[in-house]
Amino acid sequence: MSINAPRGTQDILPGTSEKWQFVEQQLTDLCRRYHYKEIRTPIFEHTELFQRGVGDSTDIVQKEMYTFEDRGGRSVTLRPEGTASVVRSFVQNKVYGLPNQPTKYFYIGPMFRYERPQQGRQRQFVQFGIEALGSDDPAVDAEVLALAMSSYEELGLKSLKLVLNSLGDQESRETHRKALVNHFDPYRDELCSDCQVRLDQNPLRVLDCKKDREHPAMGKAPSILEYLNEYSKDYFEKVKSFLDVMGIDYVIDPNLVRGLDYYNHTAFEIMSEAEGFGAITTLSGGGRYTGLVQEVGGPETSGIGFAMSIERLLMALEAEGVELPLDEGLDCYMVALGEEAEKAAVRLTYELRKAGVQVDKDYLGKKMKAQFKAADRLGAKYVLVLGDRELEDNVINVKDMTSGEQKEISLEEVVTYMKDQLTGGE
Ligand code: HAM
Repeated sequence: MSINAPRGTQDILPGTSEKWQFVEQQLTDLCRRYHYKEIRTPIFEHTELFQRGVGDSTDIVQKEMYTFEDRGGRSVTLRPEGTASVVRSFVQNKVYGLPNQPTKYFYIGPMFRYERPQQGRQRQFVQFGIEALGSDDPAVDAEVLALAMSSYEELGLKSLKLVLNSLGDQESRETHRKALVNHFDPYRDELCSDCQVRLDQNPLRVLDCKKDREHPAMGKAPSILEYLNEYSKDYFEKVKSFLDVMGIDYVIDPNLVRGLDYYNHTAFEIMSEAEGFGAITTLSGGGRYTGLVQEVGGPETSGIGFAMSIERLLMALEAEGVELPLDEGLDCYMVALGEEAEKAAVRLTYELRKAGVQVDKDYLGKKMKAQFKAADRLGAKYVLVLGDRELEDNVINVKDMTSGEQKEISLEEVVTYMKDQLTGGE
């Protein structure tokens, strides 16, 4: 009986893994320029962290977590997202007490959600995310939005839409919440069973219900933007003005509410508008959170961040036909014939690799012609041929596969020669 990978997971094989490495490197470099440093947190955490952090009433906590008891009887959960863990670490390591705030982190790693798999939605997916903790300056919100947009634009994506909203502060949200309950209560029985619960627990979430989207009450629902108090309004205006000075386009959508509980003030999503991207158009999302650090046991500290999945980023690149500049070829292929030549080839391959040259050779005892064929298939830039005659003359035949030119180089000099050829003599 063969065993397959679990539903909603995938193997990333060579041919594709180079794309992952490339985009991860680009994103890491982007973070370096914005001065965000990498944080690595555990893949599993105490279940309570997500219940309190992500929020008990969210779909993630209610239906999607991989939760199990470990052998010590503790309930642990595979992380469904990165923010709660980053905040937990920030509090646990008392990073809030260090100089140089805000603390700016980025992370790349697998997350787990028990969702119905479809294109762009897996049960294991990789998130790239950032979090800036320790400042409630709206310029930080603008910085996070700028980084988020740049992460797509620098890779060559064009069909992007930044959708922005403000969820206001606690006070604004409370008045809006009451208005929402008053508005939807007369239609309670007509709403889906999830929304009936949401109406009591988190009425804001009714606004992004897929099932009730067409209900006539939706269009007339009170908008959060009309309930923002002066502070929240001013905050939102400042975020927008910083985006304006950077020339970053956005559209305001008062119904953008996000599926996690911890947000206030800035909330945003980046969508792909590329044709053929698929049913799910959200590339990434994020926003500001004010209560989360306290919820996890730290001092009152505000943070903002966003996360994207690399899977959806690669889908968008494909949909827009962006070719990544990947070098998947091989520098050198060593062709050897005869027992002695094989020994010399093993030594030379080792020397070249130590000197930084990428080399591969035959390990299947193939004939000369088949070895050349293999070199061709692998896209080798140079083929190095070592037979008994070359050995006798203490030389190796170097063939430039692009020009077809062949040269005999002495065995002592070939490492330096190849290095020069491949680095343009630098
Ligand atoms: P989220 O909206 O739940 O937010 O997820 C962020 C992104 O992760 C999504 O936009 C999508 O790209 C990706 N994603 C989520 N679920 C899946 C899935 N099942 N398969 C593939 N990709 C998926 C958060 O996770 C927040 N922690 C973001 C944040 C950071 N807010 C503040 N800081």
